[in-house]
Amino acid sequence: MEFTIRPMKPSDIPEVFAIDKASAALYWPERSYHFEVEQNEASRPFVAVGSDGEILGFIVFWLIIDEAHLANFAVRESARLHGIGRALLLHGLKSCHDGGARVSFLEVRAGNAAARHLYDASGYHTESIRKQYYQDNHEDALLMNLDPEDYEKLMKEETK
Ligand SMILES: CC(C)(COP(=O)(O)OP(=O)(O)OC[C@H]1O[C@@H](n2cnc3c(N)ncnc32)[C@H](O)[C@@H]1OP(=O)(O)O)[C@@H](O)C(=O)NCCC(=O)NCCS
Repeated sequence: MEFTIRPMKPSDIPEVFAIDKASAALYWPERSYHFEVEQNEASRPFVAVGSDGEILGFIVFWLIIDEAHLANFAVRESARLHGIGRALLLHGLKSCHDGGARVSFLEVRAGNAAARHLYDASGYHTESIRKQYYQDNHEDALLMNLDPEDYEKLMKEETK
C-alpha cells in the first residue's frame, strides 16, 4: 500500500476525526484537532495519505522541551497491517527528536495488543500501570517510556 506522511492540515480534520471515532472508544472532538493544527505550538500532528489522497492514518505528538508525548494515534481499519502505524510513529518521533526530544511517553490500554506490539518493537517499556484508568470500561492503562538510549538507538537504526 503506497502512502506518504506530511503535517496535518485543517482540511484533513473531518477524515482524521472519522478515523479516530471509528478506532477509539474515547475519541477527541473535532475542535481538539483544530486546536492542535492551528494553535498548539507544542503539537506535531501528521497524517499518512494514500495515492488517491485518502487519509489513511494520523498521529499527534506534543513536544515539551525534551519530551515527546504521544497524544493520539490511529490507522484506518481497512489500511492496518501495512506498516502505516509504524511509519507514522517513527516519523513523529523523528520530528520531535529534530526539535530536541530525547525521551518519549505514552499511555496505552492493557488490552491493546496491536499498539503494544508496535511500542515494544520500537523500544518503549512499561514504567507503571494505572489501575482502571479508562472511564468507558475501567481498563488499566500502561504508562510506557522510550528512554534516551533506546530513542537514540531507534533514530540511528532508522537513518541507516
Ligand atoms: C495500533 C495501530 C495504529 C497500528 O497500526 P498499523 O498500521 O496496523 O501498524 P503496522 O502495520 O505498522 O504494524 C506494526 C506492528 O504491529 C503488529 N501488529 C499490528 N496489529 C497487531 C495485532 N492486532 N496484534 C499483534 N500485533 C499487531 C504488526 O504485525 C507489526 O509488527 P511487525 O513489524 O513486527 O510485523 C492500529 O492497530 C490502530 O489504529 N489501532 C486502533 C487505535 C489505537 O489503538 N491507537 C493507539 C492508541 S495508544
